[in-house]
Amino acid sequence: MDKAVLYRDLAEELNALLTGEADRTANAANAAAAIYHSLPALNWAGFYFLRGDELVLGPFQGKPACVRIPMGKGVCGTAAIERRSILVPDVEAFPGHIACDSASRSELVIPLLDGERLLGVLDMDSPDLARFDTEDQAGCEALAAIVVRHLR
Ligand code: SME
Repeated sequence: MDKAVLYRDLAEELNALLTGEADRTANAANAAAAIYHSLPALNWAGFYFLRGDELVLGPFQGKPACVRIPMGKGVCGTAAIERRSILVPDVEAFPGHIACDSASRSELVIPLLDGERLLGVLDMDSPDLARFDTEDQAGCEALAAIVVRHLR
C-alpha cells in the first residue's frame, strides 16, 4: 500500500466527514473511527483533550483506556508538554510509557495545536513493533491539522 495515496485519500475523507458539522464530540468521534478503520495495524486510535493541567480521554476506537494523563507523563503527556509529535518504535524502550492495552508495541502521538493553543493529542497505537515511520508521522500531522480545524 502506497502511504502517500493512503494519507491523501484519508485526508480527503476526513475533510468531507467533518465539514459542515460544528459539534466537537461528533467530529472527534468520527475522526477516531475514520483513522482506526483506514490505517492498517492499529489497536487503538483516539483523542485526549487538555482539561486544566491534565489530558482527559476523548472519543476513540479500541479497548477502554486510562482516562487521565498528567502533562509530561507517558507518550501522550510528553507530546503535549513538548508540543511535538512523538514516534515510539518500541513502547518498552520509552521511559514512562503508560500501557493501556498490553498488546500495544509501538505508538505515534501528535499534538493538536490551534496556533499557540494546545487542544490535546491524537494517539495511535499498534500491536506491531515499529509500525510507524516518518511518513506516517507527516501523514498523521496533516490529519491532526484537519481535525483541529473542525474542533474550534
Ligand atoms: N500509551 C499512552 C497512553 C494512552 S493509551 O496508549 C491509549 C501513553 O504512554 O501516553
